[in-house]
Amino acid sequence: MIKTALSHPNKALVIYWGNENDTLRIPTRSSLSVTLEGINHPLDYIVSLKTIESSERDKVIIDGIEDKGEIRSHFICHLSAMRNYTGFKERLEVTTRKSFPVGSGLAGSAASASALAEAFAGLIGKTEDTKLKSIMARRGSGSASRSVFGGFVIWQKGNTDDTSYAKQLFNEDHWDLRNIIAIVSSSPKKIRSIDGMKLSKKTCPEQFYSEFVSVANHHIEQISKAVLERDIARLGLLYEKENSLFREVCLRTAPPLDYWTKVTDNILDKVASLRDDGVPAYAGTDAGPNVHVFTPSKHVERVIRTIQGAEGILDIIHCRVGKGSHLVEEHLI
Ligand code: PMV
Repeated sequence: MIKTALSHPNKALVIYWGNENDTLRIPTRSSLSVTLEGINHPLDYIVSLKTIESSERDKVIIDGIEDKGEIRSHFICHLSAMRNYTGFKERLEVTTRKSFPVGSGLAGSAASASALAEAFAGLIGKTEDTKLKSIMARRGSGSASRSVFGGFVIWQKGNTDDTSYAKQLFNEDHWDLRNIIAIVSSSPKKIRSIDGMKLSKKTCPEQFYSEFVSVANHHIEQISKAVLERDIARLGLLYEKENSLFREVCLRTAPPLDYWTKVTDNILDKVASLRDDGVPAYAGTDAGPNVHVFTPSKHVERVIRTIQGAEGILDIIHCRVGKGSHLVEEHLI
């Protein structure tokens, strides 16, 4: 049997950064995100899963080549968590294709782990069970629990494997909000998110990290309201506030996690100047130097024109609110 799934990344408006349980990826705070579908570049991660009878071990094939290193271990670990959770026993061949712009610095772990969980759900006949899919995706990458859904998504932290999963707040048709990603660096992150967040939880002074944790539910409530009312000014201010808080936690981590570059600063300045001109554009980052600007569709051209002029910018990806992970008919094998 073979099943193939496609999934997209997502951008957090209320950020996930740290776990109460690192193995199960039970987070310290709930989070809220928007699933992103590329308009000028695809942002798709595709995974085919095929059952294999004659092999004692799973196989992982990335872009036509069998991987025997770190990527394989990551996929095998994720598959094993999903097998334990569901009782599925068969050996599998995993084949993946990523169609993100090459060297964009967008790691896509949310897209890859949710595509793997979706294809796995396809094999066990459970694609309608969104809670199960979100739990299974979470075990591969925390933020993947949200990419199972399209639109605006909340990941309720919960406190056990069964209670930590995401739910859709509004689907992708609710609001034609756009995300313009300014690509600033093509190198992989110096510190992977999973390691950075462990470090923050361990070393960030208690008063900052606990403030970051405790304000999440309030931010989720306020942002949910702004999304309901399609209120960009409210959403934007809260997004930037969350971003500052996240930046503070990163900078107060020991050693400090400074993910920004000069180009990041340039672009943030450009977005602030757009706002001085009355354009509703709001900027933030993830655990990296790329900048994510949220704006309603009618301001996209102006935003792109402005940030294109920033010195050092490598590329621009224009995204709409995207669909969640889903099965597709065309297999990679
Ligand atoms: O899902 P992970 O383990 O790759 O962590 C990603 C965390 C951030 O992208 C930095 C924030 C988030 O909420 O998506």
